[in-house]
Amino acid sequence: MRALSFLLLFTLCTANVSYSQQPAGQSADAATARDAFIRNLLSRMTLEEKVGQMNQYNGFWDVTGPVPEGGDAERKYEDLRSGRVGSMLNITNTSDTRKLQEVAVKETRLGIPLIFGQDVIHGFKTISPIPLAEAASWDLEAIRKSAELAAREAAASGIHWTFAPMVDISRDPRWGRVMEGAGEDPYLGSRVGVARVRGFQGDDLSDPLTVAACLKHFAGYGFAEGGRDYNTADFGLSTLYNVVLPPFKAGVDAGAATVMNSFNVLNGIPATADAFLQREILKDAWDFQGFVVSDWGSIGEMIPHGYARDRNEAALRAAVAGSDMDMESGMYLTELPELVRDGKVPESLVDEAVLRILGLKYDLGLFADPYRYADAEREKRILSDPARLETVRDMARKSIVLLKNERGVLPLSKNGGSIALIGPLASDKDSPLGSWRLTAEPNSAVSVLEGMQAYSGNTLAYERGVPLAEGETAFVFETKINTTDRSGIPAAVELARSSETVVMVLGEHGFQSGEGRSRAALGLPGLQQELLEAVHAVNPNIVLVLMNGRPLTINWAAEHVPAILEAWHLGTESGHAIAEVLYGDYNPSGKLPMTFPKSVGQIPVYYSHLATGRPEYPGNDLVFWSHYIDQVNEPLYPFGHGLSYSDFRYADLKLQTTEIRPGGSLEVSVRLENASDTPGTEIVQLYVRDHFGSRARPVRELKGFEKVFLEAGGSAEVSFTLSAEDLAYYTAGGTWEAEPGRFSVYVGGSSRASLHADFTLTE
Ligand code: NOJ
Repeated sequence: MRALSFLLLFTLCTANVSYSQQPAGQSADAATARDAFIRNLLSRMTLEEKVGQMNQYNGFWDVTGPVPEGGDAERKYEDLRSGRVGSMLNITNTSDTRKLQEVAVKETRLGIPLIFGQDVIHGFKTISPIPLAEAASWDLEAIRKSAELAAREAAASGIHWTFAPMVDISRDPRWGRVMEGAGEDPYLGSRVGVARVRGFQGDDLSDPLTVAACLKHFAGYGFAEGGRDYNTADFGLSTLYNVVLPPFKAGVDAGAATVMNSFNVLNGIPATADAFLQREILKDAWDFQGFVVSDWGSIGEMIPHGYARDRNEAALRAAVAGSDMDMESGMYLTELPELVRDGKVPESLVDEAVLRILGLKYDLGLFADPYRYADAEREKRILSDPARLETVRDMARKSIVLLKNERGVLPLSKNGGSIALIGPLASDKDSPLGSWRLTAEPNSAVSVLEGMQAYSGNTLAYERGVPLAEGETAFVFETKINTTDRSGIPAAVELARSSETVVMVLGEHGFQSGEGRSRAALGLPGLQQELLEAVHAVNPNIVLVLMNGRPLTINWAAEHVPAILEAWHLGTESGHAIAEVLYGDYNPSGKLPMTFPKSVGQIPVYYSHLATGRPEYPGNDLVFWSHYIDQVNEPLYPFGHGLSYSDFRYADLKLQTTEIRPGGSLEVSVRLENASDTPGTEIVQLYVRDHFGSRARPVRELKGFEKVFLEAGGSAEVSFTLSAEDLAYYTAGGTWEAEPGRFSVYVGGSSRASLHADFTLTE
């Protein structure tokens, strides 16, 4: 009977609706049908069933088999059968998702399907570069495609929802999760975030090859004090509105289906219980129609935060603040029904959360067919699609940043030279997969050694120099690079001595960045610096390939090594992409999405800082200005920096007018020339300085960029439209607007661009 009524409901209300935040994007009929369907369902739910929809459990099926016995898994299984689970995470194949979905659909009273979520951060089986690396490409279409591929593989494996993109802006490379975001800048971060949302969600959430996106972590997580994960964030409204929120707003406007809140306390309030963030800003001011999921256990963590006395108060505070779904703390399940019955939480608030959750299930097409993502044949076909490798290889090439190239060391000649390949990461097939690749096959990346072996013109010999630490899992607190074993250094030095060129692959193990991997020192871990210096002493003709998940302090290398290639953790096709760049078959074009500091003591060091009342001025020999007595203020490599095998020159910066009226816009153009015999791509960047405002304004802010390809000797006029709206910010009066006055515009190949011109925004 139950199954029958469920089927009937399906048949009555199965219109497959294209996803849209606003019913305006759907036909009126489709929006009405959606609304009628979810409201009808809600009206038939008990309070326990409603709260069940707000409960998300971590997977247990794969751990304990089809019918779990005893302990936590059995309890969770019973909860699932009695309609007390709305979503699960970490169930990662069609066979398991189907089995669990069958329990939800066939055994619960109302048969409401589950949503399966997963951290699909930079690929599912086929791994793309880490998000920070992708952001270095500044290539929004490539980033969209990379997210699209991740979505295809995940959706084909039964997953409906990814906990990505992470759009946290961060200025602190000590924080291990910078690898998961787009770096330090809210403008670049917004554009990259939107590209990822589009890639994951496509045009139609009910398409079984797309997944729902989740903007995270709302908000302030990237500002953890001291860069220590899960730590306190404390900043004012100006930073909140001008720096932290823009990528979330852009993602919401692009139709992101969900938002995840965050572990941190912000200005004394855990984000999970922050009604100002979740209700006032997100749901009211921005009219976000999707739902908010807590971070893992973050409702319960309000007890150790000292913000909630007990489970009951934690659930109360989170629900009232607008956290709609409880990831894995279980506190909604045990506490919310009683809180509603006691009149402490209005049932209307529970209803609102449940409607949001049911709405996404409807948009995903799960009421039309709960098994639409669980097609084993499609899973097999998509996971072996030959086109997938080219997508991630293309993304990998575009993500590489040439930091330094002197004496023409790069590209390597292909004819007969002897090359020594040295370093523990050069032959590693796991580290290039980076952090956050839960479903990747371990050791499945193409190593640099393999990538270089594909080029046969030179003699290539390899020595590891220092080993990686053996036998650890992803979750141990470990440096991962051996710190005591020097036995391989002499052989590496000998090889370097007898070779013409040395390629050294050094940096961080793939699990040395990511969640819970904050670092207090940012040099090359373990004995790698020692190895580098020992090799350099016998052969300084070194190309240093960095493999890392965050900016590093590599001053010694920057001073002594002639060529440095930032290759991050580039995913499955790493070695191929790196070899193509080393040998000049691909001309690098990446630009840093995050500043490289000279020392940890400089952090936070970022390009869009405010001016002080005591900036540096030439000839000043007093100490009373804003500086360190033992370090310069300038970073090692600024935001936006990145070289090419071509030689790009900028000239003729022109503004079409020197005045913009409110609501108006301005054309900015510059001539870009490729003064070399190598075709190449440059990322032309436009920055603005607002000289005076009701709040002090940053010395520069990125407002536009263009990726431009030029043939050898070619040139082009590159133009931008800058609108008055682009100049808007969160003013002292609490409005988002552009204030009249003088502005400067800078155009060039990094945040240090020197060509500039002034204009005025009139009243
Ligand atoms: C905790 C992380 O902070 C969050 O980003 C992730 O999505 C969840 N764990 C689920 O794995």
